[in-house]
Amino acid sequence: MIVLFGARGDLAKRKLWPGLFRLTQAGLMPEDFRIIGTGRHEPDGDIADEVRAALEKAAPDDLTDEAWASFAEKLSFEKSSADDGAKLAEAAKAAREELGDESRTLLYMSVPPSAMKPMVGMLAETGLSTDRARIVMEKPFGSDLKTAKDLNAALHEHVDEDAIYRIDHFLGKEGAQDILALRFANGLFEPLWCAEHVEAVQIDIPEKIGLEGRGSFYEETGAFRDMVVTHLSQILGFVAMEQPKSLSAGDLRDAKAALFEDLQPFDPDLAVYGQFDGYRDEDGVDDESTTETFVALRVDIDNDRWRGVPFLLRTGKALAEGRRVVTITLREPDCTIFGCRVEGERPSNTIVFELTDDPHLSVGVKVKVPGPTSAVAAAPLTLDVERALNQSGLEAYERLLRDVMVGDHMLFTRADEVERLWECAAPLLENPPEALTYEQGSWGPERADRLAEPAGWHLPEQAAQQPAGASA
Ligand code: BG6
Repeated sequence: MIVLFGARGDLAKRKLWPGLFRLTQAGLMPEDFRIIGTGRHEPDGDIADEVRAALEKAAPDDLTDEAWASFAEKLSFEKSSADDGAKLAEAAKAAREELGDESRTLLYMSVPPSAMKPMVGMLAETGLSTDRARIVMEKPFGSDLKTAKDLNAALHEHVDEDAIYRIDHFLGKEGAQDILALRFANGLFEPLWCAEHVEAVQIDIPEKIGLEGRGSFYEETGAFRDMVVTHLSQILGFVAMEQPKSLSAGDLRDAKAALFEDLQPFDPDLAVYGQFDGYRDEDGVDDESTTETFVALRVDIDNDRWRGVPFLLRTGKALAEGRRVVTITLREPDCTIFGCRVEGERPSNTIVFELTDDPHLSVGVKVKVPGPTSAVAAAPLTLDVERALNQSGLEAYERLLRDVMVGDHMLFTRADEVERLWECAAPLLENPPEALTYEQGSWGPERADRLAEPAGWHLPEQAAQQPAGASA
């Protein structure tokens, strides 16, 4: 049985209901199951009507009458809040009785960080978080080190760490896992993965979309908490960690946690915050809000592998492109028979990961320009992974929902990692730079460009070089 908190929210409509529906169609759900949606406000009509409307938008091709009918009969809604979960607990008990004692309960907490702790108390009081329950916690996990520690302590009072799944859906993206495969499974790349050969790393997640009606959520989180301490830092973990002993959840998370120990506290002097023009006019946003909708940041890792290599992180709303790009820039030979790199020229020896659901890799190389000349020019070797292997993967949330059902923690974050990331974030949270206004559809405040000097940001790349699969 799945109990979905925040069942009428934006994430549920865009990702969770469609994900659960597609998993059902793919035969990846248990043979029999129930999904109880819950939240503070009842739907106007039947929850199934809301879910159907969400599926029509997100999964129209899979929505046959037959598929819908068998999914719809599993759905129900029960109102609940942190103060009152009695009716929900009754409904869950009834569903469990129908499904049998061996059934498990998956509690999906898609609620804002400030609501998490009181909800955890309610889960324990009502018996919802019994020993057969698994609890999925949406990010951001807390809003700083103190609240994350409090939330971890509140959870650990009632449930074992083994039952907790802190979700960061970027780790569920095929492209993110490709980083590990490319790094550790290839003699071509593994030896290059260190300061001796890598000049800089960029994790760049510009978004074209704005708030999409999530004004009040965004006012509480801002881009730094929403994206940087979470998605971008987790991707940084995959890019920079040492090779884990194995791909078990314990070994992989040990390796990532060790890397985060070497990550240096974020320096406010190396951060640029921005706010898009018009943000303050959005619903749910304060007229004088100083919330950042853009962050660019340089971070450093103090270990033998990475000392001296700048890791540049950038993300923001209402920017010129929607992309999720990791760029590893390799050092080029200082001077070759083909000439030196001119100062300010964009590096061409790059390894670029597109973290879309349909992942692409490209390696930028210099090749001889065809014709009666000795000149060289940069060109990408591009790989469309799904096409090359003639196989498609699961969407990130689908993959992660499935992992919770089979009890695999590998792609979920652990208490120590999350707390360490908040520790690194503390200087910026205490002393955030002023958010500079930027035009919608731009690349953010100009000051962010200076962070990436001398080589500059990999994006925007020249139009001709954009790989297929880059999305809006
Ligand atoms: C979410 C953030 O976690 O990730 C959103 O809350 C953001 O603000 C989204 O837009 C991006 O995810 P994706 O998978 O669409 O790149």
